[in-house]
Amino acid sequence: MANEGSFEASKKRSDQIIADLDVNPGKYTMLTGDRPTGRLHMGHYFGTIRERVRLQELGVNTNVIIADYQVITDRDTTANIQDNVYNMVMDYLACGIDPEKTLIFTHSAVPALNQLMLPFLSLCTEAELLRNPTVKAEQEASGHQLTGLLLTYPVHQACDILFCKGNIVPVGKDQLPHIEQTRNIARKFNERYGQVFPEPEAILQEAPEIPGLDGRKMSKSYGNAISLCLTEKETEKLVKKSKTDSERFITFDKENRPGVSALLTTAALCTGRDEVEIAAEIGNDGCGALKKYVIQSVNEYLAPIRERRRGYEQDLDFIKDVLHEGNRRANQIAEQTLAEVREAMGMVY
Ligand code: TRP
Repeated sequence: MANEGSFEASKKRSDQIIADLDVNPGKYTMLTGDRPTGRLHMGHYFGTIRERVRLQELGVNTNVIIADYQVITDRDTTANIQDNVYNMVMDYLACGIDPEKTLIFTHSAVPALNQLMLPFLSLCTEAELLRNPTVKAEQEASGHQLTGLLLTYPVHQACDILFCKGNIVPVGKDQLPHIEQTRNIARKFNERYGQVFPEPEAILQEAPEIPGLDGRKMSKSYGNAISLCLTEKETEKLVKKSKTDSERFITFDKENRPGVSALLTTAALCTGRDEVEIAAEIGNDGCGALKKYVIQSVNEYLAPIRERRRGYEQDLDFIKDVLHEGNRRANQIAEQTLAEVREAMGMVY
């Protein structure tokens, strides 16, 4: 029997919820977020942002955290953090996240959220913390010693999710251990002190892993990402210098032609067409023609997003207002939850 924490079990529960979302959107509170380490790119957009907008429009209670404290889990500076946070808000709004419907806020502005960390840490064992595979992978990638914050950031993430009683968390597979940890914390808290928290579920999207321009996963750190905020010219330059191969005839073959296939997938996502069909159409016209088609499809697809973004870039005061209002509301929600936690724990004086 598959145990409750297995991928199969999570996927099954996720599929059931995805089906139910259309029928009962009001039953769900979504919390998800991003680290403000750079600009959002097409991988973020097709991977998660588009789905957040869909849930927002369905009528789910949607909450998005800009996880500024997570920035210092695997690096030791907060250089550019303010600029990155403002730009992340711009990217969100440009993509259609509506601050009237979706709460946008940052960790560092919500003390009561962070205070949940203390009771939550008491519910986690050292062994549980140490066996989280994502923590291990991030520590190795960082080249640093394991810090206390990196070790415990999945618990901090449980605070993010539970402060607003989130019950669905759209995430990639790599975040599943964190959701499992969150469910554990909620269950143990409720057993020990009485029912306060839901046991949240991961929502695992069908969204394809978006290839970067070299065929690897799109990621800023690989230098293969098309940021949403690029100009048309910058997009053209980036796509033109992407690596393909010397075979003229265009075919879709991820295994043997990662560069060509990544370009085809990018065009397919932007046009809603099929990769094989696009490949056949370009055929003998070769990589130059393929790149031209990709540049045109990306620029066309992103045009309305970029146009809105240019507007926000001219209105930083508005962006700050959005964040201040989000932080104000997040504080109200966090205070309320912390009051319930104090009550449940008998810490009322
Ligand atoms: N860890 C997530 C990332 O790396 C960001 C994040 C922070 C998050 N808090 C969260 C995601 C809570 C889901 C739920 O992108």
